[in-house]
Parts: sequence; structure tokens; C-alpha cells
Amino acid sequence: MGFHLKQPARLTVVLVTAILIVLVLFAPAAAQEGDETELLEQGAQIYADNCAVCHGEDGQGRIGATLAKDWPSIRPDLRVRETIERGVSDTFMPAWGLNYGGPLDAQELDAVTFYILSWQSGGPIYIAPTPTFDTRIALTPPPGVEGDPMRGSQLYAANCAVCHGEQGEGRVGANLAKPWPSVRPDLRVKAVIENGAPGSVMPPWSQEQGGPLSDQDINDITAYVLTWSGAETVPATQETSIGPLTGWPVWVIFIGAFVLIIIAIVYFSRQRNSED
Ligand code: HEC
Ligand code: HEC
Repeated sequence: MGFHLKQPARLTVVLVTAILIVLVLFAPAAAQEGDETELLEQGAQIYADNCAVCHGEDGQGRIGATLAKDWPSIRPDLRVRETIERGVSDTFMPAWGLNYGGPLDAQELDAVTFYILSWQSGGPIYIAPTPTFDTRIALTPPPGVEGDPMRGSQLYAANCAVCHGEQGEGRVGANLAKPWPSVRPDLRVKAVIENGAPGSVMPPWSQEQGGPLSDQDINDITAYVLTWSGAETVPATQETSIGPLTGWPVWVIFIGAFVLIIIAIVYFSRQRNSED
């Protein structure tokens, strides 16, 4: 009688052990694969947010150099990482490492380096997400300024936010959400955008100066930047996104849930046992 009731419990124990062995054998391989994909995804995001503006969405080059290429170096990872961390002096390539006044920590530098090296022939294949720009609220053009601030806000997000912050609060570049003491602030701001700020990483943006933006583009961005003048600086809201869970946390949760279910089964079958 007692033996008869214990049979299912024993079967469960055997099953659980078998499943745990399978998990222990295969989890590390799956987790490592997950780690690489995670690193690529993170690197792609950092790249899209910070680098695509100058190096092009696929590393094909724009204001900055072509990055989708082979790096003739024994340790290309070290070379590329160091360039990103320190920047290239006397060019528009800013330093990105925290130690050099940039916004990226060591782990983020690893991720974006890994992503860039994935473009080498024979590297891991990963399709980057296309950057999306959020739709913004309707903006009233500042009086006497030509240009469409709505269109300007999109161009700003794509070209300038990387250095000046989403709301012009400043990042690698200067704070732009401020009053411009000038008879014609629009002309002043427009001139800096067209010609850049010599001696800094602020590149010239006008097509006459070899930049990517048309006169209309620059007028629109100028109108957008001037919507901030006089307004209080809005501190940037830190975006925290929780992506889909991958890698070892999934396994921990999975195994944890499994163990809980088994404990419950054993508990209830024992209870029924003692009721008998
Ligand atoms: C404002 C424009 C700009 C931005 C933004 C920018 N770069 Fe650059 N980058 C450049 C320029 C210009 C060069 C070429 C410097 C030179 O002449 O050597 C360069 C060079 C590089 C190089 C070296 C290329 C080579 O052939 O040696 C790497 C690697 C690089 N950038 C990575 C990045 C990464 C990663 C980011 C984002 C975190 C980034 N860059 C953001 C402008 C930019
Ligand atoms: C690679 C980083 C970078 C990018 C990208 C960039 N800027 Fe700048 N910008 C700077 C830096 C750095 C300065 C400060 C230059 C100096 O020291 O005077 C600056 C200065 C300026 C100024 C003058 C600020 C002042 O107080 O006089 C304006 C206006 C400006 N940027 C607008 C723009 C616009 C608009 C875009 C996009 C089309 C843009 N910037 C893209 C880095 C950048």
C-alpha cells in the first residue's frame, strides 16, 4: 500500500534528476551564445545612438571614416577600442570613454567595439535595428525665424542629440537650451551649424563645407534649437529599457520555477498520503 503510493513520487524524482542533468549540460552553451547576441545587440544600440550620425548606419562612413572594413592589426579589438575610448585628436572624432570625459563605460566600449568588428569579413552576422525617432508635440516657430521646427526636431534627433542631448542639455557637445544674446540669434546659431566650431569636435554641417545637411535642413534645425531659448533647461530623462530576458537569468528562473513545482507536487502527494 505504502509502496504503491510512493511510486509516482519516485518517478518524479527520477524525471527531475534527468531534466536537471540535461539543463546543466546544455545551459552553458546556450548561455554563451546568448551572451554574444546580447553583446551585439547592445553594441548595435550604442552605435545607432552615438556613432551612426558620423559613420553611417552600416558603418559606410559619412562625416566620419568607414568602419565596415577589415582592420589589418594583430589585435584589431584593442586598436578599435582604444580609438573609441580616446577619440582622435584634431579631428571630429570625440573621446567616448568615461576616463576621457565621454559617456561610455568599459562594458559599453566592449559592446560597441564587438559590434564594429562584426562588420569584418567573416565576422558574426547581425542585422542592426533601424533607428526610430519618436514623434514630437507640435511646435510653434519662434517669431521671425524661417524654418520648420517640427522637421528640425527630427533632424536634430538624428544628427545633433548624440552630442548635445535629446533636449539640448549638453553631452559631448555644449548646452544649447539657453538664450542666445544676439540681435539675430537665428543667424548666429545657423552660422555655427553651417561652419562648425573650429578646434572642437563640432563638425561643419552645410553641404558647402562638405557636410550632409541642406540649407533647408539647417534652417529647420535652427528653428528647433531656438524653441529652447529662454525656456528652462529640461534635464534629460534617463531611458531605462528592460529588454527581453536572455542568457543565464532565464535558466535561473526556469530551474527555480521547476524546483518550486516539484516541491509543491511532493508536498501535496505527501499530504494526500497522510490523509489516507
Ligand atoms: C562627430 C562625428 C563622429 C562621431 C559622432 C563618431 N565619430 Fe568615429 N570618427 C570620426 C572621424 C572624423 C574619424 C576619422 C579620424 C581621423 O581622421 O583619423 C573617426 C574615426 C573613428 C575610428 C577609427 C577609424 C580608423 O580607420 O582608424 C573608429 C574606430 C571610430 N571612429 C569609432 C567611433 C564610434 C564607435 C563612435 C560612437 C561611439 C564614433 N566613432 C562616433 C567622427 C566621428
Ligand atoms: C561630435 C559632437 C557634436 C555634434 C554631432 C554636434 N555638435 Fe554642436 N557642438 C559640439 C561642441 C563640442 C560644441 C562646442 C564648441 C566650442 O567649444 O565652442 C558645439 C557647439 C555648438 C553650437 C554653439 C554653442 C554655443 O554656445 O555657441 C551650436 C549652435 C551647435 N553646436 C549646434 C549643433 C547642431 C544643430 C548639431 C546637429 C546638426 C550639432 N551641433 C552637432 C559638438 C557637436
